[in-house]
Amino acid sequence: MFDTGLKRIEELNMKVIRELANEFRSHESESFNPRETIYNTIMNIMTMLLINKKFQKTDKEFKLFTEIERLSISSISSSGKGIMKDIRLDDKGSNGLMHALFCLYQNQQEGKSPDTFPLEEVNLKTAFVDMIVAGTTTTSNSFYGFLNIISQHHDIQEKLQEEVDRVVGTDRMVSLTDRSTMPYTQATVLELLRLTSVVSMSVPHATMETTSVSGIPIPAGVQMLPNLWAMHHEEDFWGDPHAFRPERFLDEAGDVVSASHENRKHLMPFGAGTRVCVGEILAIGRLFLLLAMMAQLFVVEQGDVKSSWDPRSYQSGIVLYPLDYEIRLRNRNEHLHAK
Ligand code: HEM
Repeated sequence: MFDTGLKRIEELNMKVIRELANEFRSHESESFNPRETIYNTIMNIMTMLLINKKFQKTDKEFKLFTEIERLSISSISSSGKGIMKDIRLDDKGSNGLMHALFCLYQNQQEGKSPDTFPLEEVNLKTAFVDMIVAGTTTTSNSFYGFLNIISQHHDIQEKLQEEVDRVVGTDRMVSLTDRSTMPYTQATVLELLRLTSVVSMSVPHATMETTSVSGIPIPAGVQMLPNLWAMHHEEDFWGDPHAFRPERFLDEAGDVVSASHENRKHLMPFGAGTRVCVGEILAIGRLFLLLAMMAQLFVVEQGDVKSSWDPRSYQSGIVLYPLDYEIRLRNRNEHLHAK
């Protein structure tokens, strides 16, 4: 059952990523800002999963969601409240995750399902907004940051291209099954998550009882913000934390270092423990496909509008937000149609 679910997620990712590739191809050689297209692609993966619907950039819903993203830079909760009045609850034409939640809600209302965890309308709306914001803003800002980084790191881009050409070739698109044989691309995803650390202060938590962290006593009822950025940029540990160097996640044989390696233990972009990010597997797989697709189909160069690729320049908020820039794309493997 799990397998079928993952397969469906991969197919969905691939379908929407192919549309992104085709839209990028239509910009060939012109300088453009890819932010909106990336956001639209990632958001459509989430809305397909949740409500089985896709939106165009001109749709009212797309504008609403980009507004949530803009507001979420300063605060997720205030943006959520603002948007909830515009969401209507219905189950028409949908077989996404929200449909399942909606049916449970309806059954509870009609007394057909146990209400150990009674759902209210506000729970459904909040779950929807949370998943859209958490699942779209994070991945789209990481990938938006990535394109600016590699437009200024041609050596890394060439290594990614070499790997995808060697492993996948030029007759088909990359799939998640290629992941185990593409260690350089995997290491680049890990390095991207470390360097950009877009959820820099994780999500606020509070202590339920008196505890201690590294011997420091913490009373009950205190709000805690794990500083993931600091962990990912600790100079004493990483040596050159502000360099983009995927090799730090590769061993001497060129394989990805195991989860027990010190560098992996110091990488916690999705938080940890019981409340670890629920989208970790989806996000890592999606970033792998996006990075590999870019390497296979395009050479990324700086465009007319330039900004620093260094995440220390990002705008801060609940999620870090890369500055605007433009890129220019040159097609590779033009005969390979992203269908
Ligand atoms: C680059 C991508 C992503 C990053 C860096 C990221 C990071 C995080 C972090 C640091 C947390 C807080 C964990 C904690 O409290 O310890 C979190 C929570 C969460 N994330 Fe993600 N996330 C990403 C993608 C996603 C995706 C794709 C989804 C949706 C499918 C998602 C849904 C959530 C939700 C719902 C929570 C709250 C979980 C809870 O409190 O129980 N995230 N994420």
